[in-house]
Amino acid sequence: MTAATSNADELTRLAFEHCLFPVIDQETVRREGPRIYVKGEGIELTDLAGNTMLDMMGSHTRANSLGYGNREIAQAVFDQMSAVHYVGTTSHFAEPTIRLAASLAELTPGSLKRVAFTSGGSESVETALKLAKQYQRESGNKPRAYKTISRWNAYHGSSMGALSVTDWLAVREIFEPRVPGHSFIPNPTRYRNPFGMEEEAYFELCATYLEREIELQGPDTVAAFIGEPVMQANGVQVPSRHYWQRVREICDKHGVLLIADEVITGFGRTGTWFACEHFGLEPDILTMAKALSGGYAPIGAVITTDAIADAIPMLRHVHTFAGHASAAAAANAAIAIKRRDGLVDAARDNGAYFGAELAAALENHPIVGQVRGLGLWHCVDFTADRASKAKFEDDTVSVIVESMRAHGVLACRIGTALEMSPPLITTRSQLDTAVEVCARAVHEVARERGLA
Ligand SMILES: Cc1ncc(COP(=O)(O)O)c(C=O)c1O
Repeated sequence: MTAATSNADELTRLAFEHCLFPVIDQETVRREGPRIYVKGEGIELTDLAGNTMLDMMGSHTRANSLGYGNREIAQAVFDQMSAVHYVGTTSHFAEPTIRLAASLAELTPGSLKRVAFTSGGSESVETALKLAKQYQRESGNKPRAYKTISRWNAYHGSSMGALSVTDWLAVREIFEPRVPGHSFIPNPTRYRNPFGMEEEAYFELCATYLEREIELQGPDTVAAFIGEPVMQANGVQVPSRHYWQRVREICDKHGVLLIADEVITGFGRTGTWFACEHFGLEPDILTMAKALSGGYAPIGAVITTDAIADAIPMLRHVHTFAGHASAAAAANAAIAIKRRDGLVDAARDNGAYFGAELAAALENHPIVGQVRGLGLWHCVDFTADRASKAKFEDDTVSVIVESMRAHGVLACRIGTALEMSPPLITTRSQLDTAVEVCARAVHEVARERGLA
């Protein structure tokens, strides 16, 4: 046995003995083994067995927007840790945290200006929901408002408040009862929707349903509506501009705060700094995390307007590591690199190229229902029957993803679809490779299963 094999065996054994594996069933992990990586460079990731793969998922979570081994960010974190790594919360700040807040005010849409920091996406959503409730009470606008509304298939995180507004990944039911006062409404989806409606008409229904739900709950009791500008469920769901404009109007009419959850979409993923920009949407509160630091440090944030911030004498919400100086240094460096290297525009242009190539390679394949995406975030939505748009009820989509992995490209299954969301530094030749491998995997699996 070589040293490398014995190290691999030991790490696998230790992982099984001591690690819990979230949102993957334990049997699958037993069968496939934990995925253990030893090295990353650019968008390439090397596992323990020495296999090097193109990481088209941004470290599985889509957080990694700048690839691996970025020495500039590492240096910024090192310098900050050596100077003063962390100074606490409340009114205790180090320079990078304040500078980061100012940058976020510049980059986010509309009149968002005041930032509360967190350590990640769920904390950001938790903060946003509580900020909205506290604002409605303390501003005197709606002293009775404690209710919130989100959408079917929404994913907003795993802490109790965020979980309560979540309907994806089957993570909610086992922890019920939820935080009281929450309801779900239909979400705009492309390709197939629960009522088999034409897309624009369905989007209209989704917006109208929000108004109906606010009226049903009683407008005085509804504090906020939360939605992902582009939803991840079943693959990159891009609604129309009209949908978000109507949601904005309805929220304004009823004094409901609009929270845009940009935890996935923020910082260039969709080819703009924030996905709200595609829809001319100006939310009251915006949440972010993931690519804020390119995945180099756990950090998230919530940004709101002066009017909301000024109506609250004391924000009654805090996290120990909120605004951590070294994490803020990583975020500042990540933002500076994206600005200097024009990576958000690159995501837009290379993303359009990627989407067109993926569609050209796959959209006519018998098991492909739709190829869609925005910026550097694309998916292939599969169907077992193009006429009825039936979903695959078996493991076909997962097997295609596994086949891509075997051919050296990491993608992810997301419900009925296969998703790719590579770092913004991904080159066109790497995108070509991903398209080629994806097409090969689809063809091979379809042929083996007698589907094409
Ligand atoms: C839209 C959205 N909001 C919130 C979260 C939760 O973020 P975290 O996992 O960092 O807590 C996620 C995570 O995927 C997300 O996609």
